[in-house]
Amino acid sequence: MKISLPVRGSDAISPTAHYTGYVWYRHGLSHPGLVTPQGRALYHALRPLNASSRGIGGPTLEGFLLARHRAIDALLGHAIDSGAVGQVVEIAAGLSPRGWDFARRYGTRIQYVEADLPHMAQRKRERLAAAGLETPRHRVVALDALADGGALSLATLAQSLDPKQGLAIITEGLLNYFDTDTMLGMWQRFATVLKRFPAGAYFSDLHLASDNRGASTRTFGKLLGSFVRGRVYLHFGSVAEAEAALIRSGFATAQLIAPQPQAMSGGAIDRKGAALVRVIKAGT
Ligand SMILES: C[S@@+](CC[C@H](N)C(=O)[O-])C[C@H]1O[C@@H](n2cnc3c(N)ncnc32)[C@H](O)[C@@H]1O
Repeated sequence: MKISLPVRGSDAISPTAHYTGYVWYRHGLSHPGLVTPQGRALYHALRPLNASSRGIGGPTLEGFLLARHRAIDALLGHAIDSGAVGQVVEIAAGLSPRGWDFARRYGTRIQYVEADLPHMAQRKRERLAAAGLETPRHRVVALDALADGGALSLATLAQSLDPKQGLAIITEGLLNYFDTDTMLGMWQRFATVLKRFPAGAYFSDLHLASDNRGASTRTFGKLLGSFVRGRVYLHFGSVAEAEAALIRSGFATAQLIAPQPQAMSGGAIDRKGAALVRVIKAGT
């Protein structure tokens, strides 16, 4: 099957949201209402490539996706359970189940805002409504992570949040699609906004150059390249470099965590996949 993907800028990333949306569903993390035909088609189109990588002892897309997703879930859950965080803005949420899942799990204890580019936000709203998954403290808004000001900026969204509640910002599957300066701009914007709240936490996945070397990983790189059809940026050569850049961007604390490998729906555990990704835990 031939899958056509747009190739440039933020738009190049959107098809991957359909794919990951299907992966979350496939592994029991999501609701059928958040599955799209594009996601299902991409998933099945990429199965042979995933299988051939696994066949030579290499990593799989699903292995690293599940590791990062569950690690971010755990960090966010802990931040809410500790009482530090009472509201969440998930930027580039795509078709992720996290907003729906946390809103139903935590009820009135949190306010969950999912944010994405206008067309994706609209699609998510439609999907949630059609599947009856809306809850009062969960909303989906249009936002451009690259906007410094204006209606689509994080700064404008932040004005609608409760200044007395701790805030967590999440990005998942976003940072490595942007060049270093653009990504640092996002981090500065996130830190600036988080500092206005009594507690500020930032959780995200990040791929490092130091974790993405070796023969099987090169095969995996081809897999990822065929999937994204755009450039993937590995901004930092080490954990220390990435942590220092987060501090320079305005965070008071920054830690890169190696996520635990997670069992897939069939029981297989992909340790090599999990080793390709780190999870940021930063605070202001
Ligand atoms: C790889 S998907 C990840 C979706 C979701 N976080 C997940 O893990 O399933 C990337 C998402 O980034 C969104 N995106 C791309 N550029 C963006 C931008 N400038 N601002 C906000 N979202 C953006 C896309 O629309 C897409 O939903």
